[in-house]
Amino acid sequence: MTETSDRERLRATFTEDAELYDRARPGYPHQLYEDLSALVTLGPDCRVLEIGCGTGQATVPLAAAGCLVTAVELGPEMAAVARRNLAPYPGAEVVVSAFEDWPLPAEPFDLVFAATAFHWIDPAVRIAKSAAALRPSGVLAVVSTHHVKGGSEEFFAESQPVYEHFDPATPRGLRLSPASDIPSDDAELAASGHFGPVRVRRYEWDLAYSTRQYLDVLRTYSGHRALPAPAREGLLAGIADLIDTRHGGSITKRYMTELMTAGRTA
Ligand SMILES: C[S@@+](CC[C@H](N)C(=O)[O-])C[C@H]1O[C@@H](n2cnc3c(N)ncnc32)[C@H](O)[C@@H]1O
Repeated sequence: MTETSDRERLRATFTEDAELYDRARPGYPHQLYEDLSALVTLGPDCRVLEIGCGTGQATVPLAAAGCLVTAVELGPEMAAVARRNLAPYPGAEVVVSAFEDWPLPAEPFDLVFAATAFHWIDPAVRIAKSAAALRPSGVLAVVSTHHVKGGSEEFFAESQPVYEHFDPATPRGLRLSPASDIPSDDAELAASGHFGPVRVRRYEWDLAYSTRQYLDVLRTYSGHRALPAPAREGLLAGIADLIDTRHGGSITKRYMTELMTAGRTA
């Protein structure tokens, strides 16, 4: 399987169960929006293009801040749930399209924003098309999500053999890395020539999950969704058994959210 066909196959899995995604996936730390608003005023004068809005995890806070948001979302079911979540905000609209295929409007945007979505866009298109969508000095903001060392570390170590058993793609002996060991993914943006200096901010935060909640979030991950059903169900049953029998029915996952921003050059 080529990298492109793998990406296109996996990125289409989210919309298979948009309600599950909406229920299970968390939003982003408040401080991220505070930091973003120091670069671009988030309010009624701010035209935002969001790429891959999902069911609106970041779209709702941007729309609630008063921004005029156009969100381009690949999955029709994801877009439908996003529209429902955005119903109180008439300044937000959701368009169903692959970002790569979407014709840019004539009026430029102040902010192009992607949360846990930029890596799903064709690397040959994503930076240049984002730059083309922005006014000069407009800001590209790319949010990425990492699972890092912390939280219920023993549980995650115990999960590894379950993954190795049910998912042959799992690297042997994998362990969580501390956030400080995870390099920033800024090289592509820095080398593009379309943007000025790249700034990176990081936020570490913990989220507690019951067994059911944790299984729900696992079921939203494209890699888990793409497993053959018997392997996926075996994996989830093994994880549920671990949480219930060895961790009292709840675990904590530590997230590291990275906000990478750069201003479009003139
Ligand atoms: C991991 S989800 C992130 C959703 C949401 N932004 C969030 O923060 O949870 C990735 C989203 O990007 C969408 N997506 C994937 N490829 C896309 C593309 N080429 N154009 C537009 N949306 C895309 C998927 O349908 C999915 O809703």
